[in-house]
Amino acid sequence: MPNVKISGNSAIAFDGTAPTLLTALEQHKLQVNFHCRQGYCGACRCKLLQGEVQYLNEPLAFVRKGEFLPCCSIPLTDIEIEIP
Ligand code: FES
Repeated sequence: MPNVKISGNSAIAFDGTAPTLLTALEQHKLQVNFHCRQGYCGACRCKLLQGEVQYLNEPLAFVRKGEFLPCCSIPLTDIEIEIP
């Protein structure tokens, strides 16, 4: 069960009850911008400071190095992220 540490905040456990990282963050009342929820728009873009994520579907939105899209990914390892 990977831990998701939010920079400047406490960590949450990705326990498999949420289908994506975005949903897991929302379940813990953490506010993340979103629009399409399918990897198209890039609105949910967050920084990945540590660890690895896996995309459920290859996203079409542009993602810079060190960023990821929580709407269509799950953590592969413990991760640390920064929500803009
Ligand atoms: S909400 Fe559109 S890419 Fe994540």
